[in-house]
Amino acid sequence: MLKIAPSVLSADFGGLAEAVGEVASEADWLHIDVMDGHFVPNLTIGPPVVASLRKHSGLFFDCHLMMTDPGAYLEAFRRAGADGCTVHVEVGRTGALLAEAKGLGLRAGLAINPETPYEAIDPFLGDADLILCMTVHPGFGGQSFIADVLPKIARTRQELDRRGLSAELEVDGGIDEETAPLVVEAGARVLVAGSAIFGAERPWEATRRIRAAGEKGLPGSQVDS
Ligand code: DX5
Ligand code: ZN
Repeated sequence: MLKIAPSVLSADFGGLAEAVGEVASEADWLHIDVMDGHFVPNLTIGPPVVASLRKHSGLFFDCHLMMTDPGAYLEAFRRAGADGCTVHVEVGRTGALLAEAKGLGLRAGLAINPETPYEAIDPFLGDADLILCMTVHPGFGGQSFIADVLPKIARTRQELDRRGLSAELEVDGGIDEETAPLVVEAGARVLVAGSAIFGAERPWEATRRIRAAGEKGLPGSQVDS
């Protein structure tokens, strides 16, 4: 029902393979944050690190490209072992980028920043395999959840369902046991969590707890009734 995607941004970069091993049994996907120092004011992971991690994990690699020019790197990420690549609607060329990603055999994701209105992604719902609603301003882990994004998540869910589209709906930023049920209730089904998982003493247990908390937001559960 729910997918949990730990974000390695909050893991110890000196021991990434070990960190991934700590959550492997509980995680559905691994979220890999790629930052170019231009679209966001931070630099993180590139294809060589993804290729190294690939040797240590069979998890689905969900690469979040916070880059001004993701098109220049899609092929490199695919070759490195990415399973999905998500580009931001704010960088433009959205239709072409989604098509390029799909052409490479990637699951094509489309991300939207907190302040960008829903209307920006509406024309592309049928082209994307995944919609990622950012619930913090991208660039850094450990920020506070922006609750103002909840109506946009709900609107996206409503439109996907109304049109019979099967794109996954993912949220990213400030997700923990408290916020997980809220985003699930709004319609998200893939939850990214960085600091709430890798900042915990036992990351696998934190992953399990976030899943259990999120499940409370599913239709028919206690939050709903
Ligand atoms: C933020 C990244 C997130 C980040 C989330 O720009 O896209 O994936 O790792 O971290 P937390 O869960 O700590 O907000
Ligand atoms: Zn991310």
